[in-house]
Formats: sequence, C-alpha cells, structure tokens
Amino acid sequence: MFNEITGKIAARMKVLEDIDKSDRIDGTERLKRLRQIPLETGKFLSLQAANCPDGNFIEIGTSAGYSTMWISLAAKERNIKVKTFELIEKKINLAKETFNEAGISDVIELIEGDALINLKNINDVSFCFIDCEKEIYEKCWDLVSGKIVKSGLIIADNAINHYDTIKPMIDKAMADERFDCLIVPIGKGELVCRRK
Ligand SMILES: C[S@@+](CC[C@H](N)C(=O)[O-])C[C@H]1O[C@@H](n2cnc3c(N)ncnc32)[C@H](O)[C@@H]1O
Repeated sequence: MFNEITGKIAARMKVLEDIDKSDRIDGTERLKRLRQIPLETGKFLSLQAANCPDGNFIEIGTSAGYSTMWISLAAKERNIKVKTFELIEKKINLAKETFNEAGISDVIELIEGDALINLKNINDVSFCFIDCEKEIYEKCWDLVSGKIVKSGLIIADNAINHYDTIKPMIDKAMADERFDCLIVPIGKGELVCRRK
C-alpha cells in the first residue's frame, strides 16, 4: 500500500501536514484547526483497515481529509469507498479539495452533516475510525458498535491525550463483551476494539 502512494497523494499530505503543524502554534482557533492525526497513526489505520473483513469503511470526523487519505489506501485495494462524515462547511470544502487534488475522489464518499444523524443509514461496518468532538465519542459508540461485522474494528483516536474526556466511552467499550479492546500507544493513543 505505502509503495502505491502517488505523487499527488504525497503532495497533498505534505500540504495538510504543514497547515496542521502551523495551526498548532500560530493561535488558529480550535474549530478552524485541522486537528489531524500524525503520520504514524495514518499508517497504523491503513494497515488495520487493510486486514478487516468485508464491509463498509467509515470515518467520523473528516476535517480536511488527511486521515481519510490513509484509510483510502486500504479501501482502494478492495475496490470500496470510505464513507466519511463532516459537519463544518469550511472543512467539507477543504476535504473536497483534498480528494480532488489527491486524485482519490472515486474512493471517497463524503457525507455532509451531523454524523450522529447520518450514521443511522449505514450498516455492516467492518472498519470505523472515530475522530470527532471528544464529548460525543460515547454516542458514536452507541450508534456504531451494533453495526460492526464479525472481526471488524472500531478505532478511536485520542485515547491517551484526551483519556479523561473519552473515559466514558473507553470504559463502555472495555466492559462490552462483544469486543476485545486495547489502547495502543501510537500517536495520540488509539483505542482498538475488535468485534468477536
Ligand atoms: C479531530 S478533527 C478530524 C481530523 C481528521 N480525522 C484527520 O485526522 O485528518 C474532528 C472533525 O470532526 C468534525 N465533527 C465533529 N462533530 C461531528 C459530527 N457530529 N458529525 C460530523 N463531523 C463532526 C469536526 O468538524 C472536525 O472537523
């Protein structure tokens, strides 16, 4: 997969990495910041998604589409689209620009609006990446966990750097007998939950 990253994808990744880096130090207000995953988490997501069973790949929280690009590498291998949810218009426009410039629009379905509403239309999920506002992680878990196919994965970002805020979701996942869960210390901390 990583050898198949095209020049266009690599170039757009670099643009977003640079914006994200400066966002974190130049005082850009929180809702305008890209707040994207680091590169090693992107690779981790690609590898995990590539090994999931058949089913839908979804992402809650697109921002400018950086993590979506990484997940799309696995989606392309099996000829499916990543369904990714984003609420804020400026982020939606940036994400569209990303997918066009990277030449991957055919591998992405960008679902505009509140994921908590739009998720209701999606079933048979084999890979779900949760990376939205931390306060709604538990609601996302409630909506998605019953849709995961056998051996499918839910991965939630910020399981270490925002541990206290997402603890209600982590505790719920850890206590859920349908799943085996572990916090992996990569990037900001990834809660990985595999449906038995
Ligand atoms: C941390 S950023 C996502 C970063 C992205 N996953 C990446 O690594 O490139 C969180 C995004 O989730 C979006 N978001 C928050 N709540 C949402 C909701 N209810 N439905 C859809 N998107 C939401 C925010 O607008 C924001 O762009």
